Amino acid sequence: MTTLNFDFSGKHVFVAGGSSGINFGIAQAFSKAGARVSLISRSADKVAAAVAQLTSTGAQAWGTSADVRQPAALESAFAQAAEKFGPIDVLISGAAGNFLASVLDMSPNAFKTVIDIDLLGSFHVVRLAHAYLQKPGACVIQISAGQAFIPTPYQAHVCAAKAGIDMLTQVLALEWGAQGIRINSIVPGPIADTEGLKRLAPTDDTLSAMTQRVPLKRLGAIKDIANMSMVLASDLGAFITGTIIPVDGGLALTGPRDFSAAAAASRQEKT
Ligand code: COA
Ligand code: NAP
Repeated sequence: MTTLNFDFSGKHVFVAGGSSGINFGIAQAFSKAGARVSLISRSADKVAAAVAQLTSTGAQAWGTSADVRQPAALESAFAQAAEKFGPIDVLISGAAGNFLASVLDMSPNAFKTVIDIDLLGSFHVVRLAHAYLQKPGACVIQISAGQAFIPTPYQAHVCAAKAGIDMLTQVLALEWGAQGIRINSIVPGPIADTEGLKRLAPTDDTLSAMTQRVPLKRLGAIKDIANMSMVLASDLGAFITGTIIPVDGGLALTGPRDFSAAAAASRQEKT
């Protein structure tokens, strides 16, 4: 796949939930395009490994362990990042958790945990980052999911959280537009070789069924999402704000998915 030839030299990109998967792929893409990258996630080991991988290419990168559910830790991370690399030009808010469970199999704490990480966590990230964003000029990208607008069995927690994230995106586009801050949501489709997809399609059969549902008949690649992030953050995206952009091979057009086989397989895996 072609990598677009962007230049983010001297720009500061902060990635919340950036130590693995799609978000790390976004961090890598900006880093390769010359950006200085800050990243956080819960696991200090994962953060250290991700930062080491970025700096091994000669790029400037920094990270620390922080849980998006803990505003004080986030505030400290933003302050340290701005001290090191200056105001944040691009903020990616992508920390999330997921598992398949029906509403009746989901304790109140299970539902609350995903709301706390995905929705409340995103609220903390964008709200606390605001003081450190480049004004005018900053670009904020929230990583959403199709569950935000496709009612999806076994995903009530994620549906509620990601719908809230997309509404937050639209409200902030209105509140922050006059300050020259743009904010958009990217909606990845099923992305190969990620933890998220492993949780939704835990077996070869469920993975193959998922792939066949995609109108383009392939899974997405992490680069598909990284490329859209760079388009939005570059001058090409200069007049785009408040949008919810599926990068999903057309999957959003196909309606609700049936995760019952995957849920059964994942329940079996757990026992
Ligand atoms: N089915 C039903 N409930 C589940 C569950 C499952 N598969 N997995 C966890 N839960 C419940 C737990 O039982 C607990 O509820 P309880 O206290 O009533 O028993 C609640 O969810 C919180 O679980 P816990 O393990 O304490 O949460 P955590 O904060 O340590 O981890 C998760 C958060 C559960 C989302 C965990 O899967 C995670 O860290 N995920 C990050 C990676 C990921 O999901 N990547 C994909 C992103 S799309
Ligand atoms: P992933 O590798 O598990 O990415 C999630 C990241 O968030 C990890 O770096 C994780 O690191 C971090 N994280 C989790 N909880 C956190 C918390 N409380 N505080 C701070 N960081 C936290 O999974 P992924 O599949 O690449 O998903 C990335 C994003 O894409 C998510 O927003 C997901 O909803 C979205 N998405 C994925 C797909 C897909 O097909 N994979 C499809 C649609 C949308 P730690 O464990 O160190 O905290």
